[in-house]
Amino acid sequence: MGTHNVDCMRDNEEFGALSRHGKLENEVLLERTSPNFAILRQHTLLHRVIVDGCFSHPDSSMAFTMRSLVASLQHAIPSEGLWDRGLSTVDVQRGGRIRMTPKRRSRTAPSLDAATKPRTVPVCSTSGRVNQIERTIYKIAATSKNSQIIHLKGIVTVGQRKPRPSVNEQLLDKLDLVADRLGLANILLQLVSTDIDPKTGAGKRSEPAVLRDWAEKGDVVAYKIQYTVEWKVPGGFGSPETIVVRNNHQNEFYLETVSITSSHDGSNTFFPCHSWIQSEKLSTYPAAERVFFSNRVYLPSDTPAGLKDLREKELKALRGDGKGLRKDWERIYDYDTYNDLGDPDKDSELLRPALGGNTNLPYPRRCRTGRPPTKTDPNLESREEVGGRVYIPRDERFEPIKESTFIDSCMKGLMHKLAPAMLARVKNTNFEFNTFGDIDRLYSEGLQSSFRSSSNHKRENSSGVVSVSSIPDFLRQLPFINSDDTFSKYPLPDLISKDKFAWMRDEEFARQVLAGQNPCAVERLKAFPPVSELDPEVYGPQQSAITAEHIEGELEGLTVEQALQDKRLFILDYHDLFMPFVEAINKLEGRKTYATRTLFFLDREGILKPLAVELSLPPAKRGERARKRVLTPGNEPTKYWLWQLAKAHVCSNDSGHHQLVSHWLRTHACTEPYVIATHRQLSRLHPISQFLRPHLRYTMEINGSARMNLIAADGVIASSLVNSDADAVTKLMFKLVGTLSLESCFTPGKYSMEISSAVYKQKWRFDMEALPEDLIRRGMAERDANSRHGLKLLVEDYPYAADGLLLWSAIEEWVADYVNIYYAEEATSIVNDYELQKWWAEIRYVGHADKKHEPWWPQLRTKEDLMQVLTNLIWIMSGQHAAVNFGQFTYGGYIPNHPCLTRKLVPEEGTPEFVDFTRNPQSFFLSTLPNPEQATAVMMIIEALSAHSPDEEYLGERKARWSSERAALDAFQKFTEKMRSVEKEIIARNKNPKLKNRTGAGVPPYELLFPRSGPGITGRGVPNSVSI
Ligand SMILES: [Fe+2]
Repeated sequence: MGTHNVDCMRDNEEFGALSRHGKLENEVLLERTSPNFAILRQHTLLHRVIVDGCFSHPDSSMAFTMRSLVASLQHAIPSEGLWDRGLSTVDVQRGGRIRMTPKRRSRTAPSLDAATKPRTVPVCSTSGRVNQIERTIYKIAATSKNSQIIHLKGIVTVGQRKPRPSVNEQLLDKLDLVADRLGLANILLQLVSTDIDPKTGAGKRSEPAVLRDWAEKGDVVAYKIQYTVEWKVPGGFGSPETIVVRNNHQNEFYLETVSITSSHDGSNTFFPCHSWIQSEKLSTYPAAERVFFSNRVYLPSDTPAGLKDLREKELKALRGDGKGLRKDWERIYDYDTYNDLGDPDKDSELLRPALGGNTNLPYPRRCRTGRPPTKTDPNLESREEVGGRVYIPRDERFEPIKESTFIDSCMKGLMHKLAPAMLARVKNTNFEFNTFGDIDRLYSEGLQSSFRSSSNHKRENSSGVVSVSSIPDFLRQLPFINSDDTFSKYPLPDLISKDKFAWMRDEEFARQVLAGQNPCAVERLKAFPPVSELDPEVYGPQQSAITAEHIEGELEGLTVEQALQDKRLFILDYHDLFMPFVEAINKLEGRKTYATRTLFFLDREGILKPLAVELSLPPAKRGERARKRVLTPGNEPTKYWLWQLAKAHVCSNDSGHHQLVSHWLRTHACTEPYVIATHRQLSRLHPISQFLRPHLRYTMEINGSARMNLIAADGVIASSLVNSDADAVTKLMFKLVGTLSLESCFTPGKYSMEISSAVYKQKWRFDMEALPEDLIRRGMAERDANSRHGLKLLVEDYPYAADGLLLWSAIEEWVADYVNIYYAEEATSIVNDYELQKWWAEIRYVGHADKKHEPWWPQLRTKEDLMQVLTNLIWIMSGQHAAVNFGQFTYGGYIPNHPCLTRKLVPEEGTPEFVDFTRNPQSFFLSTLPNPEQATAVMMIIEALSAHSPDEEYLGERKARWSSERAALDAFQKFTEKMRSVEKEIIARNKNPKLKNRTGAGVPPYELLFPRSGPGITGRGVPNSVSI
C-alpha cells in the first residue's frame, strides 16, 4: 500500500467520523493530494457558520452547513480545476451529493463524450467511485488538443517568523501546525498563465496546490525554510508568470521567493515575492488571494493578455479607498498631512500645527493611517497610544533581523539614557557636567559615572557618588545595576578616539563643514558683507555686522574684494533660517540661541579656516536694530573661550539644520511620497518599479517610527518596545526615561518642525536635490567641460562633493543603461506609459501637493527626463542619506564637538554672567551645552541611527535573481563593479597626504560615501535606501 492509499484511508476515517453526525457517507470525492481536495476540505470544515441541523467536526468543534458547502464550492471549485475539466455548475443536493453539470460543447472545449451528460455523483464515494471520476476527467483531457500533462515543481522559500512573537502568535502558530497536518487549513498556491482562458476571459489558472510539509517542518529553526509544491497543468497552459497564494492558516507568514521548474523542458520561472501573506480570514479586498508576478517585467502596453486584469487589480488593492482606520496587517498605501505631531488632548502645551495642506506650513505628505481626529481640533489626527504602532503597510515593516537589531540598538541606547534620567527623577534635580572628565567617563566607565551626583556644583572628586544602596529598591531590581557596566558604556566616537582635543581646533571645526555630518550647508560667499533677505521692518537692517576689519588680517594679504574675486571666501549662513524663531526659542526653558553666520577663508594650502562668527538676536522691539555681535578667533584666554562659545552656538544651529533639514526633511520626509507613489501607481510588473524596489526598503517604517517617537511633541523612543508583551523591567525603564524627542534634544524645541517646514517652503526644489545642481547653487562648483564629471570644485578637497560625484556618475550611468533596455527611442514611449505618467503626476500633485505649482518640476516626456528623475531619486535615497546619517555618532557622539543644544547666550562684558564666565570658563562652557540627561538622550538617538543592520543592502547590491532580463543583469553587474572601483578610489584618496580634510594626525578618513560596510557603527556604507 503506497502513501497515497494511506492518505485516502486517513481521509476516510475523518469523514467516517463526520458521517456519524450527519448524512455524509463513505469517503471523499478527490484524492487528498489533489489541490481541489484541500479546497473542499477548507470550505467545508473550517466554515464558521453554524445552522440548525448541520454537521459538526468532532475534533475541532468547527461546524459546516450544507448551505455553506454549496456557497463554498460555487465560490471555489468552479474557478479551480473542475471548471477547466468541463463542469459549468456545481450544485450540492440534500443527502450530501454533488451534482456536477458539464459545460456545453464548444469549438475550443474538449470533447466530453459520456461526460457531456449531466451526472450526479456522491460527494463521498467509495474508492472505486473516486477512480471512476478520475477516469472520466482523464478521458476529457485525453481528447483535448493539448493532452500532455506538465508537472511544475516549486521551491518555496519562507522567511523566519518574528524574533519576538507575542503569546497569541505563538499559540496560533501551534494551531496552524495542527490544522495543516490534518489538512484542515493549508497554504495554497495557484499558477496563472500569461495566456487567456477563453472560458473566463482571464489568465489560465492551474488547480491550487498545497504547500507541502508545513507541519513536518514546524520545529525547524532557521533564517529561511524551504518547502515544495507541485502542480499539473495541461500542455498549452502557457507561461506561468503569476502565482496566486491563499493562506488558510490563522497566522501570517513571510513569503520570500518561489522558484518553479517545468518537467517538460526544464525551464525555470522565479518569483521575488518578499511579502507577508495574511490569513485569508483577515483579507477583505480583493478577496483573499495574493498575487505575485515573476521577475519578468513589462511596460503597461506590453502586458500579456493573461496578466492584464491582475496588474490592475493589484494596484487597485494597494491604493485602497482612502477610508477608515488602517489595520496593522493591511497593505494600503495612501497619503495624509503631518497633522499628528501634537497631542493636544493630553496637554494644551503639546498642541502642534499641522504641516502640509496649507500655504504657511507646507510639507511633503506622509502615509495615511486613518486614526480619528483629536477632541481639541478636528483637523488634527489623534496620536497612537504608547505601546501601539503607527500604521504602515505590512510589507514596509522591518524584516525580523532588522527589527531585532534595531530593538537591541534602542535597548542599548536606553541603558545609556537610563541612568541620568533615573537620577533626575529619583533625586528630583538636574545634573550637570562639571568637567570634561565627566563626559569622558561616559565612554570609559559607563553607567557608574552617571551616578556621580553633581548637584550643588560639587566637583568630581567630592563625595558625589550615589551608591547602589541609596537607589530605591525597585530600581535595584534592574539587571544591570550590579553588573560590570560594560553594556552601558558608550562607544568612543571615532573623532575623539584619534585625537581627544581635535574638536577644539579651528581647522577641525572648518573641516567638518566639508566632511562632517552636515557637509551640504556651506556656500561660497558671493557678496560682502552678507545680506539677509528677511523683512528689515521686522528684523532690522539686512546687512551683516561683519566688517573687513574683522577678517582682513587673516586673508594672506588679500583684501576682502580680492578674496571674493578669487572665490576663497565661504559662509555657513543660518541667519535667515533661525532669525524668525530666535525670540520664541529663547523664551523656552533652558534654551538660548542666536541666528549665526560664520565666514571661512580657503588658504593657499587649500584648507578652510574660520574667520568670524556673527551672533544675531532679533530687535528687542519692532523698529529697533537687531542685536548683532561678531566674534573672531584669538589666543588670549578670554577671547579664546568666547570664541569656543561662539563656535558652540554655530554648531547648535548646524545641528538643528542637519537633523531637521539635511537629514529628516530632504532624505526622509521628501522621500516618502516617492515610496508611496511607486507602490500605488507602478505595478510590480513595471520595469521602473523593479528598478526602484531596493531603494524603497524600510523608509516608511523608519519614518513612521520617527513620526511617533522623534519628531512628535512628547515623543517616546521606540514605543514599539513597550507593547503589551514587554516585560515589567522594560516597561519600567521606559517609564523612567520618559519622553524623548528631537524637541527635547535640539535647541529649537517645539519649533523644530516649523523650521523644517520653513525650509521646505523657501528652499526645497526637486531639481536642486541633484548633487551637481546643489553644488552649483551653493557656489561650491562650476560647470567645466574639462573637469571630471563636468564640474570644477571650488574647494578641491571637499570630501562629500568629491566622493558624492563618484557615486552620482555611477548611478547616472546605471540608470541610463537600464532605461535604455526598456524604452524605445521614440519620444512617445515615455509619454504613452500611463503608469509612469500617473506615478510622476502623483509625486508632484499629491505627494508634494504644496509645491505642485512650482515651475521647476521636471517634465517626464523623454528618456532623458526619466533618467534625470531616477538618478536624482536614487542619489537622495542612497548617497545623500548616507552622507548625513552615518556620521552622526562620529561627530555628534561627543557633545562638546558638535553640541545639539545651547542653554546660555554668550556672556556680555559687564554682566554677572560674564563674571561667572571669567571665573571658570570651562564650567560656563559646559553649562552652555546640553546637560547629562539631554546629552545622553541625543547620544542614544544618534547611536541607534548611525548603525547598520546585518541585513543592510548597499549600493551595487540587490537580491539575487531580481530580474529575468540578461541585459539588465549585465548592466547591474557593471554598476556593481563600478562601486568596487569607487571604493578603491576612496581608499586612495584617504591615503593621499595632500588631501588634508581626509588625512593627517587625528583626522578620520572620509568614508561616509564608501559603498559597503559591515554591521554596526562604522562611519561608512551607502545603503540603497533611507533605511534608518
Ligand atoms: Fe536617517
